[in-house]
Amino acid sequence: MVGREKVTVIGAGNVGGTTAQRLAETGRYDVVLLDVVDGVPQGKALDLLQAGALLGSDGQIVGTTDYRATAGSSLVVITSGVPRKPGMSREQLLEINAKIVRDVVTQVAANSPEAILVVVTNPLDVMTYVAHKVSKFPRERVVGMAGVLDSARFRAFIAAELKVSVKNVETMVLGGHGDAMVPLIRYTTVAGVPLSERLPKDRIDALVKRTQDGGAEIVALLKTGSAYYAPSASIVAMVEAILLDSKKILPCAALCKGEYGVNGLFVGVPVKLGRRGVEEIVTLSLTAYEQTALAQSAAVVREHCDLVDKMI
Ligand code: APR
Repeated sequence: MVGREKVTVIGAGNVGGTTAQRLAETGRYDVVLLDVVDGVPQGKALDLLQAGALLGSDGQIVGTTDYRATAGSSLVVITSGVPRKPGMSREQLLEINAKIVRDVVTQVAANSPEAILVVVTNPLDVMTYVAHKVSKFPRERVVGMAGVLDSARFRAFIAAELKVSVKNVETMVLGGHGDAMVPLIRYTTVAGVPLSERLPKDRIDALVKRTQDGGAEIVALLKTGSAYYAPSASIVAMVEAILLDSKKILPCAALCKGEYGVNGLFVGVPVKLGRRGVEEIVTLSLTAYEQTALAQSAAVVREHCDLVDKMI
């Protein structure tokens, strides 16, 4: 191809806007930011374009409400949705966001039939299922962002506790997002040394719990809105692994077809990301406890996907 690859971000709110900023700052992509609220994506794109003059990035940045501007995207990040409001049930939120993701993905797929979709809207595992169902894209080209964020939170807490560089901390998480996350402590290391040799069990349990509640802790502090710096950094880590064809193994929501005993559902698993998208689901050996926790996580996703099947 000639020129930069085009990356579209749907939803110009906190997560989408910050993602567009991070992508633009790499200077490697042409970025399209789309929202239903006219003026917001255009305003943010103009602001980012002007920031590019200082940062020296030459990529194009377009803000729009028109899907034609997204045509031919290599990758589309989907952050559009509404947050849960007081008095709204989980099912109501599920229905509203499923319909938003359905409508968005229908238009995205029509304009960029070869794109890779990175889904971010919550509840993540179910929205990724909706995006796959509606787009009819192969499973390689639909992936959800959750595990990268959960593992980043866990790594940050471990590094702070041990007063070591976060670069020394490696971890892997499976299953759903937040409280449904299944951390793999056996595969968590500090400069190659298992975490269990560096911290007592009660401290590890406390850090796991704080990670599982990581999103809620930030919501409680912010009062309005939810996290977006770490979510957008997580999205960009996935986008770069894909578009730079790095073959990096990251925890992502991918469609399992028998892997880890899960069939026909998107759940968090270790995935090798490259230019074709999900190039491999990496199979790790699990303990009975880990396998049971993952099965429980998948059962909840199954229930929600069955609900959504009746809604859309
Ligand atoms: N098409 C395009 N954009 C839409 C649509 C739609 N049909 N419906 C809503 N939006 C836009 C809103 O106008 C808003 O600008 O999606 C944006 C969502 O932004 P925020 O409310 O700021 O939410 P944000 O914090 O960015 O989170 C977005 O990511 O991490 C998840 O749980 C989070 O599901 C949420 C999503």
